[in-house]
Amino acid sequence: MKVPFNYLPFQFSKVGPYFSEWKKLIKSTEFTLGKYVEEFEKNFAKYIGIKHCISTNNGTDALILSLKALNIKEGDEVITVCNSFYATTGAIVECGAKPVFVDCDDRFQINVKQIEKAITKKTKAILPVHWGGASPDINDIVKIAKKNNLKIIEDACMGIGAKIGNKYPGTFGEVNAFSMHPLKSLNVMGDGGMVVTDNNNLASWLRKYRNHGMINRDNIAIWGTNNRLQPLQAVVANIELKKINQIIIQRNRNAKILDDGLKNITGVKIPNRKKGYKETFALYMAQFKKRDQLKKFLIKNNIEVKIHYPKPLHLQNPSKKLGYKTKDFPIAEKQAKELLTLPVHQYLSRKQLNYMVSKIQQFYSNK
Ligand SMILES: Cc1ncc(COP(=O)(O)O)c(C=O)c1O
Repeated sequence: MKVPFNYLPFQFSKVGPYFSEWKKLIKSTEFTLGKYVEEFEKNFAKYIGIKHCISTNNGTDALILSLKALNIKEGDEVITVCNSFYATTGAIVECGAKPVFVDCDDRFQINVKQIEKAITKKTKAILPVHWGGASPDINDIVKIAKKNNLKIIEDACMGIGAKIGNKYPGTFGEVNAFSMHPLKSLNVMGDGGMVVTDNNNLASWLRKYRNHGMINRDNIAIWGTNNRLQPLQAVVANIELKKINQIIIQRNRNAKILDDGLKNITGVKIPNRKKGYKETFALYMAQFKKRDQLKKFLIKNNIEVKIHYPKPLHLQNPSKKLGYKTKDFPIAEKQAKELLTLPVHQYLSRKQLNYMVSKIQQFYSNK
């Protein structure tokens, strides 16, 4: 039996609905911003419950724009987590600021207890990540930010469809970023992103900055750049947004089957599923003893597993210049050696999920 990680061939096996909408777009020739992009921004705002959504080329741009909107620049420090995708830190560096890392907790999220220790006179913001589609202890982060007069920028790139209580990721910080990369819960056929905020002034700046600072064709208000979402992708995003709730339900069902099947296996550690938090399961991650051997075994048995990531950000090459070294963040370093990501997507059958569990059981009973 095969258990693929990549669900895109299933998701996009029927291309009819996309082509019929693209035909309308092509007829309209609205190829930069325009009706389809505006419609998606409105639908997204309604979905997560926020005032302003400004779509972008990708999630990385969304992060950079969020930081720039808050005037984060050279000389500033931004506190973030030491295990995430490179873009979280890359965006901070791109704005000229210094990333200050904090260790992970046992749910692979930013360790909230360590944030206050990392605050200095130069700290301007906290950039928590909804890593893997789970969420950090965001209400505590909001308290810390308020107490220390810091801004929050959420990296909600993997968080579309998650919930904390009755609120969505991306509605806690001042300006927040999403990605619609093909491997996110809401995805397009290429790159796409979104910046969201409830702040009218920031939204107005972001809208201009994303489009060369233009007020109209002949006048600019500020020097800006071009981070616009492609209307072809906005068409895809609008179609996919209608399916998001069902996708999240299915992924949660699959994750529960995996959790139930794996929780009693000695050698496997499932992260605590925090009460009141709904995950997107962009990634299903757990900790496994003898991880590298298990990975080989599962791949040999046609189960496509991944590691997110084998090297935390503070041990990546450019972090050396920032003074980071091994043993700085022991929890993340241990997790980097034990983490494995299993397929959990909405196209998996119960048989495939049971097969994964049985192969993992077999691995540990043979060792
Ligand atoms: C946590 C996180 N932040 C940022 C990004 C960057 O998004 P994008 O690939 O759309 O630029 C990604 C995804 O790739 C991500 O997973």
